[in-house]
This record gives sequence, C-alpha cells and structure tokens, in this order.
Amino acid sequence: MERTFAIIKPDAVERKLAGKILDRIEANGFNIVGMKKIKLSKCQAEGFYYVHKERPFFNDLCTFMSRSPVIVLCLEKENAIADWRTLMGATNPANAEPGTIRKDFAVNIEENSSHGSDAPETAAFEIPYFFSALELV
Ligand code: RTP
Ligand code: MG
Repeated sequence: MERTFAIIKPDAVERKLAGKILDRIEANGFNIVGMKKIKLSKCQAEGFYYVHKERPFFNDLCTFMSRSPVIVLCLEKENAIADWRTLMGATNPANAEPGTIRKDFAVNIEENSSHGSDAPETAAFEIPYFFSALELV
C-alpha cells in the first residue's frame, strides 16, 4: 500500500465540484485516510510550493491557492502516487486525457482543480505538511 497527498484546489471547491471529485477518487479504488477543508494563507501556500519558488508562475500560483478554501486529502491504495496523477491528467487541461479530472473540470493550466504528489519523497514532505499521524485513519 502507498499513500499520496491530494488537494481539491480553490477553483473546484468554489464551483461545488468537490463531491464529484471525491466520487471519482473512491470509484477508482482510493481509500481516503485523511481529509479536511482549510483556507491556506499565502505564506502557507508558498511553503507548500517552495520547490517552484524560482518559476515565473510562483506568485500567481500561491495567490490562487490561498484565495479560498481547499480540501486536502491523504489517499491510500497500491501505486497511489502514479494512479492519482493518472486520474488527475496533465497539468494543462488542454493536454489532459479524456475522462481525467483536469480534462473534465479544470479552467486552465493554473486553475486545474487538483494537486497530486509527484514522487514518494514529495508525498513524504506533503502529507505531514497538512496532517498529523493522529489524523490519518
Ligand atoms: P500539482 O503540483 O499542483 O499537482 O501540479 P503538477 O505537478 O501537474 O504541475 P507543477 O509543474 O508541479 O505545477 C504546480 C502548479 O502550478 C500551476 N502552474 N501554472 N501558469 C503556468 O504556466 C503554470 N504552470 C503550472 C498549476 O496549478 C500547477 O498544477
Ligand atoms: Mg507538481
């Protein structure tokens, strides 16, 4: 079993798409082991995305991620990291496969409805950024 970290981003929560995205998560065999709705501060978003701090989109990304609440999730299944990235689809919804979350729900390359850890080391940073061990069940 593997764990990954996921976010239902502000654009999706604002448009009341959280239920549809959670339905896809469960229908695709993920066990939700942690979930909460929170409002990130700009500073908390910057800390989460610090690997992107030199990228031209960093400031816009952190402004977007802190503009309204998100739902943060810890998901568990075999091959959870890769399988959640597949279910989300490509970063840019224009390039995402049909049937993926980003193809069906994303607004554009920035407001792309969901986040997923991209490697085991990333998940190992991201899960405890938001969840204590007691919150994972
Ligand atoms: P994420 O980390 O959110 O799961 O997305 P990702 O791996 O598919 O993409 P990444 O390269 O890590 O980028 C993180 C997030 O930054 C925003 N972005 N904006 N304006 C742009 O060109 C641009 N590129 C990326 C997206 O919200 C992306 O998910
Ligand atoms: Mg990423």
